[in-house]
Amino acid sequence: MSAGLEVVLRAERLSKSFGGLKAVQNVSFTHYAGEILAVIGPNGAGKTTLLNLLSGVYRPSSGRLELLGQDITHAPMERRCHAGLGRAFQVVRPFPEMTVLENVTVGALFGMPGTRLPEARERAYDLLERTGLADQADRAAHELTLLQDKRMEVARALATHPRVLLLDEVMAGLRPGEAAEAVELVRSVRDGGISVLFIEHIMPVVRDLADRVVVMDGGEVIATGSYREVTAHPQVVTAYLGTEEGLGA
Ligand SMILES: Nc1ncnc2c1ncn2[C@@H]1O[C@H](COP(=O)(O)OP(=O)(O)O)[C@@H](O)[C@H]1O
Ligand SMILES: [Mg+2]
Repeated sequence: MSAGLEVVLRAERLSKSFGGLKAVQNVSFTHYAGEILAVIGPNGAGKTTLLNLLSGVYRPSSGRLELLGQDITHAPMERRCHAGLGRAFQVVRPFPEMTVLENVTVGALFGMPGTRLPEARERAYDLLERTGLADQADRAAHELTLLQDKRMEVARALATHPRVLLLDEVMAGLRPGEAAEAVELVRSVRDGGISVLFIEHIMPVVRDLADRVVVMDGGEVIATGSYREVTAHPQVVTAYLGTEEGLGA
């Protein structure tokens, strides 16, 4: 279906075990340039572990990972970041006492070695405007609301100049109106030329946002396709039966 498109991320039979537990098992997928790719699955399916393998928090027990044609299977986080991989964390807020602008400036300095401080601050300020946070620039990061906090996380990740942005449940805890704003933000990121891979359990968000969906259960990929295709897949329906999140509409 996507022949000829540039591949940004390619996972080949990635596995990760914790002791005897196979958290991620033989996971393969291809993420094409410009695509918004969702990873879904019931609690404990292995989604966060997969994201940690992609961003370099963990090394895989086996398998291979490519970013823009480079083998990054064993690359440290910093090299992945410099090679174009950005990640927004769900809860991490490393510099709560620093201002919002300073937090994003750190991202700009980290992502582009050799960037000078004034340049990094300017880029950070531009990103605060893009993410709707310009009026919060001088607040301490810990004073932000949850939605503002997620916007800051996205701004920090964007500050590192990613080609691919990884998002782990950035909509969690948002009210419906706020989630709609966050959906718009993710779309604008993609429209700016950045491919997005996101983990999400809110099904309407997945339906509205994802070009393609990878469904995991028990560490394995059980279906890949459009939202309509995967939600009609018998194995996916079974995986979600009786779970709290359900498959929704
Ligand atoms: N650091 C870890 N040590 C041991 N087990 C883990 C660790 N991280 C995750 N797991 C286990 O791996 C499985 C997948 O977890 P996770 O990737 O967090 O799933 P999801 O994000 O889909 O809810 C779960 O059984 C979880 O308990
Ligand atoms: Mg998780």
